Amino acid sequence: MTGKELMDAAVKARERAYVPYSKFKVGAALLDRQGRVFSGCNIENAAYSPSNCAERTAIFKAISEGSTKFSAIAVVADSPDVVTPCGVCRQVMAEFFDPDTVVYLGNLAGKIVETTLEKLLPDAFSAKDMRMEGRH
Ligand code: THU
Repeated sequence: MTGKELMDAAVKARERAYVPYSKFKVGAALLDRQGRVFSGCNIENAAYSPSNCAERTAIFKAISEGSTKFSAIAVVADSPDVVTPCGVCRQVMAEFFDPDTVVYLGNLAGKIVETTLEKLLPDAFSAKDMRMEGRH
C-alpha cells in the first residue's frame, strides 16, 4: 500500500470524527505488517480530558484486535500545513512502533510529508529505561 492510499484511508476516517468542542476533525490510518489497515478519528468529550486523538484511536483499535507489528501511520486534518501528532500520541507510538516506522503527515489540500517516529520523538522514554524489556 502506498503512502497516498494510507492517507486516503485517513481522510475517510476523519469524516467520522466526533468534535463538537474543537470542531477540528482529524483522521488516522495505521498499516500493520500483514497489510491490515486500522482507521481512527478524534473523539472528544464534554469533560475535555477524556478526549482521544485520531492516532491513538487507530493504535488502540489495532492493539485490541491483536495486531502488534506496524509499518506506517497516516494522519490528516484540514490544517494550513500538514498536521503533526501531539506529544501524547508520539509517546503512545513509541510504545508500539519501531523507531523507523514511517509517519505520513497530511492535510486536506493533499500535501503529504513523510517522516519517522524517531524524528518526531528522539530519545523517547520507554521500557528499556526501566530495565523492563521483555518482562511484560
Ligand atoms: N488531535 C488529533 O486527533 N490528532 C492530532 O494529531 C492533533 C490533535 C485532536 C485532539 C482534539 O480533538 C482536536 O484535534 C483539537 O486539538
